[in-house]
Amino acid sequence: LEDLQFSYKGILFPATLSSPETLEALKSFEARSDDVILIGYPKTGTNWLDEIVRELESTDAKYTEEEMKETINVEKELQIFPRLEFGDPGKFERMKKLPSRRIILTHLPPHLLPRSFFQSKAKILLLVRNPKDTAVSYYHFNNNLPMLPSFASWDEFFTAFMNGRLSYGSYFDHLVEWNKCIDNERIMVISYEELKENQIVGMKKIAAFFGFSLSEEDFPRIVKKTSFQAMKEKSKETHGKFGDILFRKGVVGSWRGYFSKAQNEETDRKFHDCLRGTKLAARMKYDVYCK
Ligand code: A3P
Repeated sequence: LEDLQFSYKGILFPATLSSPETLEALKSFEARSDDVILIGYPKTGTNWLDEIVRELESTDAKYTEEEMKETINVEKELQIFPRLEFGDPGKFERMKKLPSRRIILTHLPPHLLPRSFFQSKAKILLLVRNPKDTAVSYYHFNNNLPMLPSFASWDEFFTAFMNGRLSYGSYFDHLVEWNKCIDNERIMVISYEELKENQIVGMKKIAAFFGFSLSEEDFPRIVKKTSFQAMKEKSKETHGKFGDILFRKGVVGSWRGYFSKAQNEETDRKFHDCLRGTKLAARMKYDVYCK
């Protein structure tokens, strides 16, 4: 277990994807005022949000399909892996060569991010998902992805999830840390569940936040293009051999088949101890999606 992950400031990370040197180098990363920053703990739907925001941004910028592919190719050529914390420490220098607007994705909590994220005018969109579905999704991901440790059973995984003995640490801590930033007007929160419930309304909020202007007919087109089915079908092309692992079920509420009564109560207690009464908890509608 320990060879697959390293610990940085008390949080585990996948050793084949990141390193302490990269996380150190990240501190001096310079955000641009027009960077589009997307943040979410693993399995909150970050690949989906990434695709949605790329579509919204490129529609606003009026890029052609070709130009969109070109941006992705430039990122590949410069070896800029699609998570800010992945790759070698030199990537931050190479990222200076990316044309604006850069879309930057990360799973990190605020205290591990560069100061420039908060000092520049760059806007940050925080994605959250109910902790129970996030745990189930992460359980399968850990067991299917060779870069992450496997767990012998759901019960074993659940204990690790509750203790934060996983890559990216505790989801509860992640939420507590981000809740401290919630009054920053450059940060907006969106939930997986609200995107599932009404993607058009969610996308309109995102577009307004980043200042993207789209026509009414763009929204249903993007909904179709970013549907679970459409993204799963294209996943071999977009995510190679990880496609099937990343696009698993794409629904709300599948935790019900996993949590025992005791695990359910423990999670409720933990969530309430960590986040009761906070703005972030209200945004997440825990009582709707976790009861
Ligand atoms: P499940 O494992 O519950 O199916 P991430 O991209 O952050 O790793 O999150 C992965 C989760 O998002 C998976 O959840 C995956 O199925 C879901 N997902 C991916 N694409 C989606 C889409 N287009 N619509 C809805 N859910 C999607």
